[in-house]
Amino acid sequence: MYGSRYLTEHENTLMIDGVAASELAAKYGTPLYVMAERELTDRLALVRDAFLAKYPDTYASYASKALSIGAVYEQVVKHGLGIDVVTGGELYVARAAGVPAERIYFHGSNKTDEDLRYALSENVGTIVIDHAGEIAQLERLAAEERKTANVLIRIVPQVIGGAHAKIQTGGVDTKFGFSTHDDSYLEAIRSILDCGHLSLQGIHCHVGSQIQDTSLFTKTAETMMDFVGTIREQTGFTPAEVNVGGGFGIAYTEADIPLVFADTIDQVMAIIERRSSELGIKRPRVGIEPGRWIVANAGTTLYTVGAIKTVEGVRTYLSVDGGMADNIRPALYGAVYETVIANRLAGSMTEVTVVGAACESGDLVAEKAHLAKPQTGDTLAVFATGAYNYSMASNYNQFRRPAVVFVKDGVEREVVRRQSYADLVRNDLMIHQPN
Ligand code: LLP
Repeated sequence: MYGSRYLTEHENTLMIDGVAASELAAKYGTPLYVMAERELTDRLALVRDAFLAKYPDTYASYASKALSIGAVYEQVVKHGLGIDVVTGGELYVARAAGVPAERIYFHGSNKTDEDLRYALSENVGTIVIDHAGEIAQLERLAAEERKTANVLIRIVPQVIGGAHAKIQTGGVDTKFGFSTHDDSYLEAIRSILDCGHLSLQGIHCHVGSQIQDTSLFTKTAETMMDFVGTIREQTGFTPAEVNVGGGFGIAYTEADIPLVFADTIDQVMAIIERRSSELGIKRPRVGIEPGRWIVANAGTTLYTVGAIKTVEGVRTYLSVDGGMADNIRPALYGAVYETVIANRLAGSMTEVTVVGAACESGDLVAEKAHLAKPQTGDTLAVFATGAYNYSMASNYNQFRRPAVVFVKDGVEREVVRRQSYADLVRNDLMIHQPN
């Protein structure tokens, strides 16, 4: 049900791995992010079994931007994955959560000296060079630190993937990576090879996010292997590592066909193995960077239903006590979510527009939601909110970032507490700090 086997129905109410959603809402308050831990760990186990264990000399970096909290990191590390980070902040949180530095890839399209010094001082496993200026920058900083940095170069494979223009990164017109429609990326590779403090391991790409079509991954793999051949021929350097990025798509609604992870991996690996033998080279170390696919379907957001307003002849607005501050995706991408009344799954259905409580007309949660006799005080559940919800949450209108609760086999535990009002003024130097 709703993209996770741990979401079930019991006596007309929603259960999240054995715990009634409305009980969680009552106990911890709303809005509340609830994660079905076993959905998360099943997926991590599949990455381990269908990729890491099945194919030697591979690695998987969880794209931590999807949800960077300690309880997720704990499982990520336990299952043998590493992570990718894109800022000093993500690096800090990951290190604080105990992610080993050697398992960290540092991305970013505009890394500052401070970011790179921090990455070098932490001895992160690999830094992914994104643009020409970063080569001299990183060489200078690594020399200062007397270190040699393992690096990948991010190239634009010109394969366009992604469910929305704002999450497509593989085409020519992108701020990410070295373009490949001319030879400048080959120049960049030569100059990295000339650097005394950079050790080039291979190439990276990421073509977009929420990709539901396996053929985009196979096309990416083919294209990346074309680049391996060209780079070898033109520079004499044979990439020993190829990272095909993240973007593995999930089902947000019943209409979405989720990507079949294991099958996609098998097809990608078959291409890389075949193309390596055609090139007469050892198969490069292969990396992937799934974010959304690991955490999205484990997450459900719970709200309390408040105002219900019918504009005669137009629509009925049903307001919840959160919205764009805890889930910006409908406003930003037109993302569509499935919703239910958690304490009354079935009944005579009413069509409503679910809106948030922020002071914005664009604060939409779900359009055309079909809910069973919704009433003020009900618990509204929104599914598949584990990725890019908590991590993109803001304090707009001084909403407090919600708590996160993990549920496993009938037992729940709070893993992130809700921000307090005092947290909202913590950094304001002109406000007297409450105790
Ligand atoms: N690797 C790189 C270099 C990336 O830039 C990203 C995502 C990923 C991996 C992970 O992609 P995933 O497997 O999660 O699709 N906020 C947007 C998604 C932005 C993704 C940015 N980069 C959303 O809510 O849809």
